[in-house]
Amino acid sequence: MANTILVGAQWGDEGKGKIIDFLTEKADIVVRSQGGNNAGHTVINGSKKYVLHLIPSGILRSGKTCVIGNGVVIDPISLMGEIEGLRAQKIKVGKNLLISDAAHLVLPYHRLLDEQREVKKGKNKIGTTKRGIGPAYGDKAARVGLRMCDLMQPELFSSLLEARVRENNAVLKALGAKTVNFKEINAAYLAVAEKLRPFVTNTVVFLHKALQEKKEILFEGAQGTFLDIDHGTYPYVTSSNTTAGGASTGSGVAPHRIDRVLGVMKAYTTRVGEGPFPTENEVIGDMLHGMGREFGATTGRARRCGWFDSVATRYATMINGIDDIAITNLDGLDQLDVIRICTHYKSGRKLIDVPPTDSRQLVNCEPVYIEMPGWKVSTEKAKKFGDLPLNARNYLKKIAELTGANLKIASVGPGRDQTIVL
Ligand code: GDP
Ligand code: IMO
Ligand code: MG
Repeated sequence: MANTILVGAQWGDEGKGKIIDFLTEKADIVVRSQGGNNAGHTVINGSKKYVLHLIPSGILRSGKTCVIGNGVVIDPISLMGEIEGLRAQKIKVGKNLLISDAAHLVLPYHRLLDEQREVKKGKNKIGTTKRGIGPAYGDKAARVGLRMCDLMQPELFSSLLEARVRENNAVLKALGAKTVNFKEINAAYLAVAEKLRPFVTNTVVFLHKALQEKKEILFEGAQGTFLDIDHGTYPYVTSSNTTAGGASTGSGVAPHRIDRVLGVMKAYTTRVGEGPFPTENEVIGDMLHGMGREFGATTGRARRCGWFDSVATRYATMINGIDDIAITNLDGLDQLDVIRICTHYKSGRKLIDVPPTDSRQLVNCEPVYIEMPGWKVSTEKAKKFGDLPLNARNYLKKIAELTGANLKIASVGPGRDQTIVL
């Protein structure tokens, strides 16, 4: 019985959704503890494709309970849309979904502020998903946010919202942006509140009871280590703690009740949005985009692509306490003659093996590579480690060794059955 935190060990989109879906078969509860609908987690089941944004990827398996924890920021309209979308695809969403009453709300003025701040930043923009995530977490930290428990009390919600709209409209006006209408937001949010009411509860108490009953909990990380508000490539980050610690604060489950951290990483690296990316490589990007891969699950943007960066994943192991790793998208490298792995950065004349804290310095770091021979055959049908070509096995072993954690899962395609457990 192991309660496991699954985190992205790179810049997001590592294939967390696929691995969560695979692991959920053996878990009882799947919890999202941070982020919002900036996340896009893809799960392929047979011929069906699902993209989850706010709802844990565990929802696709029957008999499991999914929890949206207190650390998540929820756009209730978008959440209801996601619930309805899943129901239209014949996925049951009812008693199997619980929403924390302490989770903060994303409101329309957050989205407008997100957009405006990006416009004002010009070429220094972050490249956010424009879902209002930064401003919503900003309000939470400034202690002026509205929460799910407020939304469940219509009169209270309306009066709180009116004050927030007044203040935010003044800010929006000062930015030269269009303002929002209190009455419209109030009506739309109160209507959706009634649809969400059956799901809303104190999820801390639910999780505590589940722990006492020895249920197995999976924490589904969103985004990735280097998008973490504290540990990422600030300011080119998201606004939550995407690293392992966030699972505890964002769910109310104490750290020592969690047994294991699983880091998910691609066999190469991708990043969507702006910010430093030492191993970025256009040739790899063109190859992957040419295969129809690496387009964002939330915004559809083409992801930036590059070689595997073990300086980054080693640091991710340190921050998250990664025990085991899952390496996805190995099949993306099937065609290459030679594969590079970044082992160090060169910063001026110095060779460093830890990413600098200041992302301005990271921009100036040059990756130092080792090269490994490719395998030049399809890996998509491999079912066990021994089915993989020798060069692919050596590559996986090398990146696990450089990352400093146990290789537990290798993924060779988006499907459930394209997963090798070691
Ligand atoms: P997440 O945000 O970490 O859940 O990842 P995304 O869903 O945004 O992006 C990962 C993409 O890779 C999705 O399209 C997945 O279906 C796909 N994927 C995951 N693992 C593999 C794999 O091993 N091989 C291939 N070809 N695709 C994969
Ligand atoms: P999943 O869970 C990849 C990126 C955005 C931008 C930065 C800030 O699918 O891995 P935000 O809208 O959060 O303020 O944007 O973070 N970003 C992601 N990149 N995967 C994600 O989620 C992301 N969520 C946010 O592109 O660079
Ligand atoms: Mg994603």
